[in-house]
Amino acid sequence: MQRQGILARYGPYFDLPAHTRPVTLLEGGTPLIPLPRLARTLGAGCQLYVKYEGLNPTGSFKDRGMTAAVSEALGRGAQTVICASTGNTAASAAAYAARAGLRAVVLIPQGKVAAGKLAGALAYGAQVIQIEGSFDDALQLVVEITRTTPLALVNSINPYRLEGQKSAAFEICDELGSAPDWLCLPVGNAGNITAYWMGFRQYAQGLPRLLGAQAAGAAPLVHGHPVAQPETVATAIRIGRPARGEQALQAAQESQGRIVAVSDEAILQAQRLLAGEGLWVEPASAAGLAGLLAEIEAGRLDPRDKRIVVVCTGHGLKDPDIITRGGFAPRGIPAELDALRQLLGE
Ligand code: F0G
Repeated sequence: MQRQGILARYGPYFDLPAHTRPVTLLEGGTPLIPLPRLARTLGAGCQLYVKYEGLNPTGSFKDRGMTAAVSEALGRGAQTVICASTGNTAASAAAYAARAGLRAVVLIPQGKVAAGKLAGALAYGAQVIQIEGSFDDALQLVVEITRTTPLALVNSINPYRLEGQKSAAFEICDELGSAPDWLCLPVGNAGNITAYWMGFRQYAQGLPRLLGAQAAGAAPLVHGHPVAQPETVATAIRIGRPARGEQALQAAQESQGRIVAVSDEAILQAQRLLAGEGLWVEPASAAGLAGLLAEIEAGRLDPRDKRIVVVCTGHGLKDPDIITRGGFAPRGIPAELDALRQLLGE
C-alpha cells in the first residue's frame, strides 16, 4: 500500500483552517498487532491488539498531531514553533519544523528526558532549552511567552494537535471494522485520550470504553488534584498538572471507562511482557497494558469475549538507559570457543 500521511488520508475529518499548508513525514498508518498468546492468558475469547505508535517517523504518536499543528502554523506564516515537552513532543516538533523550514524551540525538564528523545530534538536542529523545573513549569513558560510573541505553540493546548491525533481512532476502526470494547492508553498531559475520544465519536463506528493509566507518582487525575512534584520511571508522563485534564476525565466518564494509577513496578513489568512478544516500547507506553492487567486482576474489568486495544505510544529505542540500568547487562567472555561453549552449556 502506498504510504500516505494522515492529512491526505483523513483530510475531510479534520477541522483545520483553509490556510493550512500540509507538512508531512508520512506519519500514521501504524500496525495494529494482535497478541494472541497474551490474550489467551487474560480470558476466553479475548482479542488483544497493540496499536504500535512507536513506528511513526520520529518514534511516537506525537507525529499525528504535529503534522496538523505545524501545517497550520506554516500556513499562517509562523516562523518559529515552540513547545514544552517530556521529550517526544520535542523530537516531533523539531522534525516537522525542520521539514517545513521553520525554527523549533523546545523547553524540557532538566535531567528528566530520555536519551533518544533529547538526541532526536538536537539531531533535527531544534534549540533545546533545559528548565530547572518540571514539565509543568516549562509548559507554563511556553504558554506565557506565546501570549505576547508570534511564536506558534504546538503543545496539545493547540487544538490542531488533537485534530491530527484523532486519526489513530479512525485507523483502529478501519482495521477492526468497528471500535474495540476497550481502549487502554497512558495519560500524561491528557491530550491523547481526549483526541481518541473525539475521533471515535466523530467516526461513528461504535465507542470503546476508555481505560487511561497514569503513573502512581504522577496521577493528578486519579487523586483529583495537581501533583506538585510528580515522579515516575515513565518520564514521558511525569506530569502533575495536565493541560487537558478536565476533558480527559470527561471522556473517560462518558465512555463508561476510567483513569487509574499504576505503579512503576507494574509499568516495567508490562514493558517486559511486551518485549517478550517482540514489542519493545518505552516505559510510559507500557502503562496502558499495566492498567489493563491491574484492572483484570482486581476483577474490575472482564476481558472475556472482548476486543481490547492497548496503545503503545512510543518506541523502546527512545529510552535505552532504562533497560541497561535495569540490570540487563551483557556477559563478557574471552573470544574463545571453549568459553562460549561453557557459558551456553552446550
Ligand atoms: N506516551 C508517551 C510516549 C508520551 O510521550 C506521552 C506524552 C504520553 C504517552 C501521554 O500523552 O500527554 O497526550 O496524555 N508526552 C508529552 C511530551 C507530554 O512532551 O512528549 P498525553
